[in-house]
Amino acid sequence: MLSNGREEVVKSCVSLPELHAQVFCHSSKNITRTECCYTDFCNNITLRLPLDNGTWTQLWLVSEYHEQGSLFDYLNRGTVTVEGMVRLALSVASGLAHLHMEIVGTQGKPAIAHRDLKSKNILVKRNETCAIADLGLAVKHDSVLNTIDIPQNPRVGTRRYMAPEILDDAMNTNIFESFKRADIYSLGLVYWEIARRCSVGGITEEYQLPYYDLVPSDPSIEDMRRVVCEQKLRPSIPNQWQSCEALRVLGRLMRECWRASGAARLTALRVKKTISQLCVPEDCKA
Ligand SMILES: Nc1ncnc2c1ncn2[C@@H]1O[C@H](COP(=O)(O)OP(=O)(O)O)[C@@H](O)[C@H]1O
Ligand SMILES: [Mg+2]
Repeated sequence: MLSNGREEVVKSCVSLPELHAQVFCHSSKNITRTECCYTDFCNNITLRLPLDNGTWTQLWLVSEYHEQGSLFDYLNRGTVTVEGMVRLALSVASGLAHLHMEIVGTQGKPAIAHRDLKSKNILVKRNETCAIADLGLAVKHDSVLNTIDIPQNPRVGTRRYMAPEILDDAMNTNIFESFKRADIYSLGLVYWEIARRCSVGGITEEYQLPYYDLVPSDPSIEDMRRVVCEQKLRPSIPNQWQSCEALRVLGRLMRECWRASGAARLTALRVKKTISQLCVPEDCKA
């Protein structure tokens, strides 16, 4: 797990059925105090429990357990209706818009960019809406100092979902907006994953990861760069999506999310507004 004296963060995950929660354990060396902190964000309680090991601190992040698992698992298990698709897509956009937005005040929050948005890092709640998870790579913006806290974590996201400017190393990491724009690119890919599983008139596509037909599994940066930056390819949009308003709109949104130029992409708030205006007409129902 942790070795002596090294600055390192480890996240492990344990299910606690009696708590109906998942526990994430962040451990960091170089800390002398003995404490274990269980934070249940859902119930707003923090328990500090003594540990018999006096050399390091364990921080336990306890979050609600979502038995449906990740959006990736959910889409693999079955198809979604048009209403279901709109609900999933809207809740992801709402979550991302909230994450990206700075809220000033004592109850406020900084603007945060996720940096590893993908279907495996989105959870599906019991009510079939999504929650964005795994903020392990997230960065926050300090709007007063106009600085970005880049964590020591060397991971830079999942290659398959990386925006073209990350793949060809052209992103301006001094501007916080760049990180938000890269999240939007990934959002477009997640929408494509959802929309393929939408059943209209009994027609649906099998579940696939974005670029499944263009890169090997576990693609290298170079594999991705060739396809996304050089050949400028994007996931294909099936013709039958044109026959349904919601799929048509989602298809258009995807294209506007995965544009080559980050500045030309939509904002999460714009995506959220467009989807929330979608009414689901009768002829689209499965
Ligand atoms: N609160 C939760 N409820 C249910 N499943 C979860 C929860 N959090 C994570 N998972 C499952 O564990 C997987 C990994 O969790 P994640 O937070 O993304 O950690 P990692 O850093 O290992 O990617 C997710 O893809 C999901 O399947
Ligand atoms: Mg993850």
